[in-house]
Amino acid sequence: MPETAAETPTPTTAEAVLTISNLCSGYGSVQVLHDLSFEVRNEIFTILGANGAGKTTLLRTLAHLLPVTSGSIGFRGTDVTHAAAHETARLGVGYVPQEAAVFPDLTILENLQVGAMIGDRAFDECLEEVFQTFPDLRSKTHLRAGNLSGGESRMVACGRALMQDPKVLLLDEPTAGLSPLYVEQFFETIESIHRTRNVAVLLTEQNATKALGIADRVMVLSLGEGSTPVDAAEMTKERLKEAYKL
Ligand SMILES: Nc1ncnc2c1ncn2[C@@H]1O[C@H](COP(=O)(O)OP(=O)(O)O)[C@@H](O)[C@H]1O
Ligand SMILES: [Mg+2]
Repeated sequence: MPETAAETPTPTTAEAVLTISNLCSGYGSVQVLHDLSFEVRNEIFTILGANGAGKTTLLRTLAHLLPVTSGSIGFRGTDVTHAAAHETARLGVGYVPQEAAVFPDLTILENLQVGAMIGDRAFDECLEEVFQTFPDLRSKTHLRAGNLSGGESRMVACGRALMQDPKVLLLDEPTAGLSPLYVEQFFETIESIHRTRNVAVLLTEQNATKALGIADRVMVLSLGEGSTPVDAAEMTKERLKEAYKL
């Protein structure tokens, strides 16, 4: 992947993977995100927010599945505000949507092959890494993805994004609807993906306690407006309440 320098200066620090500046987005005339500015470094950055806060809208915008109304998105120093989804996927933005994240009629292996169509690395090497991350998938590759449990299906979706060899992984409420056992396991897996593969993670969650446990920094989204990001350790209950506007 070419390491292109920014053609126009962007307000970014050297270590920023994603730089979001005055971002506005929404659906047609309905504006959902209001003037968001923050950056994601090589870290686990968690966005907390109630239902309807705009978390999915934000991740869909960052994955270029929704157009930017105004503001800009920088990726590793390059302005990608108006790039197409397949271009940013190729650059290294992996997106795991909250729902309908697998091709139900394809097998697990075929779903992973779809992800590998984007990455540049050898297929077998990526596949082995996905199996190391999600050992449960190794013996089930021939199964139809549509027949999997919620937890397994989430693993396949995440595995498919990892096959693209991403530099940043956008995870939309990855543990929503999962049984408590899977929730625990999934948070551990996310942490290990970040630490062992050097992949930045931008994660949205409603489960504040668990998400704060693995996060480096956290921002609260409330009615499309973002709080100032703080270190997860500094996110006290009082600060959370204030950010949630409770
Ligand atoms: N396809 C859509 N068309 C119009 N409004 C939408 C659409 N999807 C979501 N919204 C609205 O955008 C706001 C934020 O939704 P969403 O990003 O899904 O929030 P969250 O993921 O935090 O629950 C909500 O008010 C929701 O009703
Ligand atoms: Mg959502």
